[in-house]
Amino acid sequence: MNMTPKEIVAYLDDYVISQKDAKKTIALALRTRYRRMQLSAELQEEIKPKNILMIGSTGVGKTEISRRLAKMMGVPFIKVEASKYTEVGFVGRDVESMIRDLVVASIEIVKSEKQEENKEKIENYVLNKIVEKLLPPLPAGASESKKDDYQRLLEAMEKRVLSGEMDEKIIELELDKMHVEFNDTNLPPEMAKVQESFSKIFSTMSKEDSKKELTVADAKEILKLEASNKLLDMTNINTLALKRAEQGGIIFLDEIDKIALSSNTQGRNDPSKEGVQRDLLPIVEGSSVTTKYGVINTDHILFIAAGAFHVSKPSDLIPELQGRFPLRVELESLTEETLYQILTQTQNSLLKQYQALLSVEGMELIFEDDAIRAIAQLSHRANEITEDIGARRLHTVLERVLEDVSFNADEYQGKEFRITKELVHEKLDLVVEDDDLSRYIL
Ligand SMILES: Nc1ncnc2c1ncn2[C@@H]1O[C@H](COP(=O)(O)OP(=O)(O)OP(=O)(O)O)[C@@H](O)[C@H]1O
Ligand SMILES: [Mg+2]
Repeated sequence: MNMTPKEIVAYLDDYVISQKDAKKTIALALRTRYRRMQLSAELQEEIKPKNILMIGSTGVGKTEISRRLAKMMGVPFIKVEASKYTEVGFVGRDVESMIRDLVVASIEIVKSEKQEENKEKIENYVLNKIVEKLLPPLPAGASESKKDDYQRLLEAMEKRVLSGEMDEKIIELELDKMHVEFNDTNLPPEMAKVQESFSKIFSTMSKEDSKKELTVADAKEILKLEASNKLLDMTNINTLALKRAEQGGIIFLDEIDKIALSSNTQGRNDPSKEGVQRDLLPIVEGSSVTTKYGVINTDHILFIAAGAFHVSKPSDLIPELQGRFPLRVELESLTEETLYQILTQTQNSLLKQYQALLSVEGMELIFEDDAIRAIAQLSHRANEITEDIGARRLHTVLERVLEDVSFNADEYQGKEFRITKELVHEKLDLVVEDDDLSRYIL
């Protein structure tokens, strides 16, 4: 992960339009962590990450930024909704579970790296096991020429398995007592231990029944898991992963405004909100959390919190928590031009998605530029008249424009269909300008 801030921003630009400040701040925070890792251990200890608070109304790209970051980076990353901890479950709210989730995410990353490193070994293991099932073994005391024949058969079979030709064949496998993994990390470690011993008991009991009939294709997947468990040093992976989460982990705390006590809805505040904030404090500040895989210190985990703060304000968070998010970035609400760019310039733009969907029906959907402008304009207008739901408005508006086309797609097989400005206006004008209608439809 040694992308420069500029490179990170450039990457995000492909998916999120405008929101320069947010992108810059986050890119810088990530680079700072990289810089820190290059320093002496002593200095590293001293440099704490500066947590970020992203403020912006709904649908302007807060979650999108984080989602893209997660995909881009090889660092452990999880996203949690802060509001989820106010729901009291049977174990009570357990804010520390986010740290355990982070460790699990980290293990996944390290494990897949190790799998990549040991790819050949794993593939060989899988291949041998499958071929063993498909070819009866060579009888003992076979002559030299038989052995040669067998060798040729073996190689031919290996080729067929690799090419996927045998994928449909059913074979019987004795599965290693696959320990049923309980990866419910929301359990506190004490509970997890209990579960683990249970699963051990179960797996020894069911040893007899571990023969299973499977297609070769399925066997490939299952054996790959078995091979990883056998060939990879899981203890080592866990240690590495713990370290990685501790030093490079990022937790995205979404909907943080939902746990703020809003100053203007007196009496209706949920007392558990403040509790969640208090529980968050030590974790964000830096403390030790016990996980199934060892103890992890949260000092250097980067927290990015985000919220719309419509009803509440950042200052409605308890002061101690506010202080732990020193970097504030505001996301702008989306203008007509931004909406237009979101439609036309993003990698995964909605227009491309619709075009791809309808191409399945053999139909070519063409959006005229005027039409796209009109969609952006009307979406913006609808945001002004009713609630501002940001780019989410584009979904409802487009759905409305394309409803009929989409329904009648079979009539356009092999043909193109042009979305024109006139069509957009015809579908939307009445709806947008009618306050009541647009509240329901858009
Ligand atoms: N600036 C933007 N550039 C590109 N796409 C955007 C932008 N803002 C929002 N979107 C799109 O709009 C949708 C909603 O955005 P997102 O989930 O990021 O909203 P949010 O800011 O997290 O809102 P909320 O406060 O409701 O959680 C996504 O599909 C996203 O791709
Ligand atoms: Mg969001």
